[in-house]
Amino acid sequence: MKILITYSSKTGNTKRLAEGIYNNIQLSDVTLLPIHEVEEVESYESILVGYWVDKGGPNEEAAKFMEGIKGKKVGLFATLGAYPDSQHGWDSLLKGEALVKEENEVVGKYICQGAVDEKLIEVFRKFAPGNPHAITEAKLKRYEIAKQHPNKVEMESIAILFRERLV
Ligand SMILES: Cc1cc2nc3c(=O)[nH]c(=O)nc-3n(C[C@H](O)[C@H](O)[C@H](O)COP(=O)(O)O)c2cc1C
Repeated sequence: MKILITYSSKTGNTKRLAEGIYNNIQLSDVTLLPIHEVEEVESYESILVGYWVDKGGPNEEAAKFMEGIKGKKVGLFATLGAYPDSQHGWDSLLKGEALVKEENEVVGKYICQGAVDEKLIEVFRKFAPGNPHAITEAKLKRYEIAKQHPNKVEMESIAILFRERLV
C-alpha cells in the first residue's frame, strides 16, 4: 500500500508535524512531500494531508488540494493557534473533513497547536482593548503554550493512530 504524507505550512509547524508522522509511522512505502511538490496522486492508495488553520479552516493551498482528492483513504492533520479542544478547534478540523468526506474514506483526523507567527501577534497588539482581536492575558498564555507544539508525544500518537487505521 502506497501512502502519501503531504502538507501545507507557512511557518513550519505543520511541516514538523508531517515529518513527525513520517518518522514514527513505521510503515513501508511512505512518501513525504509538501503539497506544491506533489505531481500525481493516482499511484497512492492513502493520503495523509496536513493544513494550518487560517480564518477558522484549512489554509487555501491545502483546501484546494483536499477538494481534488477522490477515492482514497484520507487522514487529516492540522495545526492552529487556538486550543485544539475549543469549539474553534473542533470546527477547524470538521471544516477540513467536510472537504474530503463525500468522495473518500476518512480514516482519522487530528489537530494540535502550533506557535503563532510573532508578526501576527504584533498585529493583534495594536487592537484597542475590547476589540475581539485585542490581546488579553489569556491569549498571551495560549500563545506561550502554542510555542511548545506540535510536540514529540503528539507526533507519536498521531503516527500510531494513522498506522493502526491504515494497516
Ligand atoms: C494569517 C494567519 C491566520 C491564522 N488564522 C488562525 C485561525 O483562524 N485560528 C487559529 O486557531 N489559528 C490561526 N492562525 C495560527 C496558525 O494556524 C498556527 O500558528 C499554525 O500552527 C501555523 O502553521 P504553520 O507553521 O504550518 O504555517 C493563523 C495564522 C496566520 C499566520
